[in-house]
Amino acid sequence: MKIALLFGGKSAEYEVSLMSAKSIYENIDKKIHDVYLIGIDNKGEFHYFDGDIKSVADGSWINNVSDAEVVFCSSQKKPGIYSSDINIVFDLVFPVLHGPFGEDGKLQGLLEISNLAYVGCPVLASAVAMDKDIAKKLFAFEGINQVPHLTVCSWNNIEKSMIDIEEKLGYPCFVKPANMGSSVGISKAKNRDNLKKAIENAFLYDHKLVVEKGINAREIEVSILGNSEDIKVSCTGEIIPSDEFYDYDAKYKSNESKLIIPSDISIDDENEIKKMAQKAYKTINGEGLCRIDFFIDKDTNEIFLNEVNSMPGFTTISMYPKLWEKSGISYKELVERLICLAVERKEREDAKKSK
Ligand SMILES: Nc1ncnc2c1ncn2[C@@H]1O[C@H](COP(=O)(O)OP(=O)(O)O)[C@@H](O)[C@H]1O
Ligand SMILES: [Mg+2]
Repeated sequence: MKIALLFGGKSAEYEVSLMSAKSIYENIDKKIHDVYLIGIDNKGEFHYFDGDIKSVADGSWINNVSDAEVVFCSSQKKPGIYSSDINIVFDLVFPVLHGPFGEDGKLQGLLEISNLAYVGCPVLASAVAMDKDIAKKLFAFEGINQVPHLTVCSWNNIEKSMIDIEEKLGYPCFVKPANMGSSVGISKAKNRDNLKKAIENAFLYDHKLVVEKGINAREIEVSILGNSEDIKVSCTGEIIPSDEFYDYDAKYKSNESKLIIPSDISIDDENEIKKMAQKAYKTINGEGLCRIDFFIDKDTNEIFLNEVNSMPGFTTISMYPKLWEKSGISYKELVERLICLAVERKEREDAKKSK
């Protein structure tokens, strides 16, 4: 198959994407696939890149791209991705993109219109997974247990919102941009002064915020693989963050954060988390993959769904592939399965359209 691997992107998670893309590129079976790299710079411009994958990982790829434009074509005769550099009809796109534009359904819409098969969640599931506020509303509707939370928009009266937060959630609380990832824009607030600053900071990334009651949490994650008709759930893993919480530095800069795989939790908790994860995946209409994150309250042992990630970190040491490795699917095999799932979903959707 001819595969376009998309990396980078106009989001605060640009660098995370470069790291994930390198690992995926190196593990796609080149005996059966031809892989072409298409990078998206942090202004959102697409570039064909035929250099070394190492310069993708270190970010220097951007100094060696051609000026040829990459365009997406929706013409029924010749849909797909084109550029004067690459006159190739791709069979499939592997978007290794995190955060807004790449993981939130916008790019997935472009790929649908261009009639391309692509790895990962489709438009709706991607958009819902990215928006913590909408996702929480759907999960609540399905009766999935979540930490108490409130939504605050930039057009609300912020003084009033802060009083509401203090009354309903108290301190500490977590302030998050609704649409973001990798802990970008997230702060833990312990008093009114912290809260005000946390809200101002989170509004730099989104006009809508989710504020949650802070809990003394163990962080447990689980990986899902499969299209709607056949969903597989991995074993669970635990994160021990190096900092007070799992912020950007603890995720990517410090070597001190630990992943414990499989997690050391009771069989009952493990089963409950797996059940909740499947329900959450079905709720968003997930397809392909998701990593689903939970909290277990250290004080009460209550289990809460935290969030769903439709394109989780995907380096060889990331939680998503590591959980599969422990559950019997190697990184290489995982990449191939994701490609197959994308093809199967496209065939299923095409069959539906032709009726
Ligand atoms: N309600 C909460 N209570 C305790 N810790 C939290 C809470 N919400 C978030 N955190 C901490 O912040 C981190 C990032 O929050 P999360 O909602 O997972 O955002 P992101 O999508 O950026 O990963 C979590 O991994 C956890 O360490
Ligand atoms: Mg998270």
